[in-house]
Amino acid sequence: MEFVTLSEVLDVLTSIIFAICLCLLTTLTIFWWILPNQKFQNLRRCGFDGPTPSFPLGNIKEMKRNKSLKSSFSSSCESMALDITHDIHSTISPYYSSWQKSYGKVFIYWLGTEPFLYITDPEFLKKMSTKVLAKTWGKPSVFRKDRDPMFGNGLVMAEGNKWVHHRHIIAPAFSPLNLKRMAIMMVDSTKKMIESWISQINSGHFEIDVEREIVTTAGEIIARASFGMGDENGKKVFDQLKTLQMTLFKTNRYVGVPFEKIFNIKKTLETRKLGEEINKLMFSIIEARMNSNDKIQHQQDLLGHLLKENNGTYGQLNKALTKKELVDECKTFFFGGYETTSLSITWTLLLLALHEDWQNQLRDEIKEVVGKEELDINFLADLKKMKWVRSEALRLYPPSPNVQRQAKEDIRVDNIKVPKGTNIWIDVVAMHHDMTLWGNDANKFKPERFMNDANGECHHTMGYLPFGFGGRACIGRNLIFMEYNIVLTLLLTKFKFKLSPSYHHSPTIMLSLRPTYGIPLIVQPL
Ligand code: HEM
Repeated sequence: MEFVTLSEVLDVLTSIIFAICLCLLTTLTIFWWILPNQKFQNLRRCGFDGPTPSFPLGNIKEMKRNKSLKSSFSSSCESMALDITHDIHSTISPYYSSWQKSYGKVFIYWLGTEPFLYITDPEFLKKMSTKVLAKTWGKPSVFRKDRDPMFGNGLVMAEGNKWVHHRHIIAPAFSPLNLKRMAIMMVDSTKKMIESWISQINSGHFEIDVEREIVTTAGEIIARASFGMGDENGKKVFDQLKTLQMTLFKTNRYVGVPFEKIFNIKKTLETRKLGEEINKLMFSIIEARMNSNDKIQHQQDLLGHLLKENNGTYGQLNKALTKKELVDECKTFFFGGYETTSLSITWTLLLLALHEDWQNQLRDEIKEVVGKEELDINFLADLKKMKWVRSEALRLYPPSPNVQRQAKEDIRVDNIKVPKGTNIWIDVVAMHHDMTLWGNDANKFKPERFMNDANGECHHTMGYLPFGFGGRACIGRNLIFMEYNIVLTLLLTKFKFKLSPSYHHSPTIMLSLRPTYGIPLIVQPL
């Protein structure tokens, strides 16, 4: 009998390890070098130009370099004076702005090994979107993975038949009747905020960071509107959802770069843990709902509505959404709704503080339409000037500064092919500030441009996209219209707003378009 020596065993082991390493290296080279490179060549052949990417960061290095140039520029300007310009595109996205000059309004850039088709040409977008059904649009896989703890497979990220199914079930939750039921909690939360402002003012503090305050109130409203805030669990979910978003977006991000999650291991584990805790809490809320006797009260929020829709018999889940899907949808309502809504109101307050004449016009309109009595929400839809102001604020400072899609099939636009798998990045801020679409006064606050045209007299029907476009446009539009009108009506009948000397104008993108240093305003009771 022959015995294998130790050195022979070591030789075999070394060969196995070597073979595994080689396989791994080959796989990585194929997925992160050869395939992306092929995609790059393919896109060039399809007619798209753009900045040359480098492996493995793509164009991220240039984006970060440009951003830091912008930061030093903006802080030196800010300290000089309150010289507020709404011409924000080149300061919030200097890289897009400079690439546009070299490559035009449609080009390819790279986040790591992922190509993105950048679009600010509404005609190209129109031609492309007419070829694609809402259900055949995808969402970029890198973002689906990155934001999984926030949205799961909720409506924002759902694709194909799943998206059709969910949209069909969720849409009735935003019916006018259902929204009216939520109005009471909106009035309630806003009045609570007003009381707190009055006590701050009475104790001599006239300067209020309206962004911080409204984000909190709108967060409370959306959490109550989504899944109720009546119990301790509701409040806990609300706090944890906010923490999750901050954790995900606070660190340096390298989305699309191979092994990004491993390099950011602390953040990855933190978000995963938070995501799991939130899911657990949400499950318990859903279960409590299903066992609750107070069905009428609970049907007033979106979760209550989904549970009712789910099956003719309240609480049985054999027809439509599973518990995990319900959890994802509730999280999606929260993340899709709270920050966007609060930012639309906060940017409006900034614009009104800068334009006292419009503040007065809105106050007069409120007096005329709503009167001085207790707020009757049936009149809110008649506030025409408030609607122009809202549309103009959403144009100059769109809370969702970009819209993202993924081509699930090849799309032909004239003689150009957008290949299957291409990620699409529509730069809404650039379109909303484009002088060729809006005229020379594109960067001026002029609500009257919406007087006779819901599209603000934009030269192109696809040039104004605060809520996205087509069948995948925002489902929560009517909810925000109502909330916006309620909050502004209550605020404008109580207070006058002036810009605080400590305000620094530095809009920035962190998922949403937000003010870097909040929006401190001088708030005076009327
Ligand atoms: C000012 C406030 C808001 C803005 C600016 C906004 C903007 C947007 C945008 C740009 C999209 C992407 C559309 C597209 O891909 O074409 C979107 C989708 C969505 N929004 Fe909003 N949103 C707002 C408020 C809300 C609210 C209050 C909710 C829910 C409570 C909500 C829920 C959603 C959902 C679920 C989607 C995904 C729709 C789908 O893909 O079918 N949004 N929103």
